[in-house]
Amino acid sequence: MQPSRYLQTLNKQQAGKGKTVLITGASSGLGEGMARLFAKLGYNLAICARRTDRLARLKAELTSKYPNIRVEYRALDVSDYDAIFAVFDAFADDFGGIDRVVVNAGIGDSRRIGKGRFDTNRRTVEINFISALAQCEAAMNIFRAQNRGHLVVISSMSAMRGLPKHLTAYGASKAGLAHLAEGIRADMLLTKLPIKVSTIYPGYIRTEINENAKPLPFEVDAKTGTKAIVAAIEAGVDEACVPSLPWSIVGQAMKHLPLPLINKLS
Ligand SMILES: NC(=O)c1ccc[n+]([C@@H]2O[C@H](COP(=O)([O-])OP(=O)(O)OC[C@H]3O[C@@H](n4cnc5c(N)ncnc54)[C@H](OP(=O)(O)O)[C@@H]3O)[C@@H](O)[C@H]2O)c1
Repeated sequence: MQPSRYLQTLNKQQAGKGKTVLITGASSGLGEGMARLFAKLGYNLAICARRTDRLARLKAELTSKYPNIRVEYRALDVSDYDAIFAVFDAFADDFGGIDRVVVNAGIGDSRRIGKGRFDTNRRTVEINFISALAQCEAAMNIFRAQNRGHLVVISSMSAMRGLPKHLTAYGASKAGLAHLAEGIRADMLLTKLPIKVSTIYPGYIRTEINENAKPLPFEVDAKTGTKAIVAAIEAGVDEACVPSLPWSIVGQAMKHLPLPLINKLS
């Protein structure tokens, strides 16, 4: 079913009523877009990022549009690992638990390897992988204590293969994140805990992360992209390439194509 149609059905059912979603990196782009769509579905929201002025505006907008939901925001720099645990626990106290955590905060500022930009590449890998690991740890602490929950990580189509130029370190960080999520999913199977783990692989979606980039292959706007992401999350998928067309097909191809063809996607 088309994401829009599927979400319309869930909106009518108010599928999120009484549940809480925590989203990191909710001050712009996909995080902000997901917050809007989850609010429409009736979810309470726990949102965080560094730019709290934007979070305050988003809270005001969403609570006036959907008076039945609760929205709380907190400042969080995900490079402060201790703060991740403190902020997630504080949100869990606010709401008496958290139903879903979306590990979304990320940066895309990577550079060619061996060009003197280790600082930039290290920062990208730290934010996209180590900080994401800390977010997964903090979320799973809460979910294990509750004996329920849904962990969602926002990886990237760039995780499918090693990529050249500015995508090398970024893609590696997102591949690491996807592997981490699969490992947690495997552990939940092994231990039979009722905690779901979803890995989302977005294709190119126009947001602040790529605002200065030339036209990108198969790019979509943020509204279309976030609808596809939220529909996949609501469907409880283990893994999804989004938007599904063309990225689920491109994803399969990427795993097998020779590198010269893969380079054309970067
Ligand atoms: N757009 C795409 O084409 C695309 C494709 C694949 C995957 N993704 C992934 O989707 C996620 C969201 O990206 P986006 O496209 O929405 O980009 P964006 O508009 O630049 O949003 C990035 C978000 O991450 C937050 N963030 C960055 N560094 C942070 C830090 N140190 N501490 C806390 N929050 C931090 C930002 O909040 P503050 O600056 O306010 O802290 C912002 O809310 C990222 O993980 C990205 O890698 C995007």
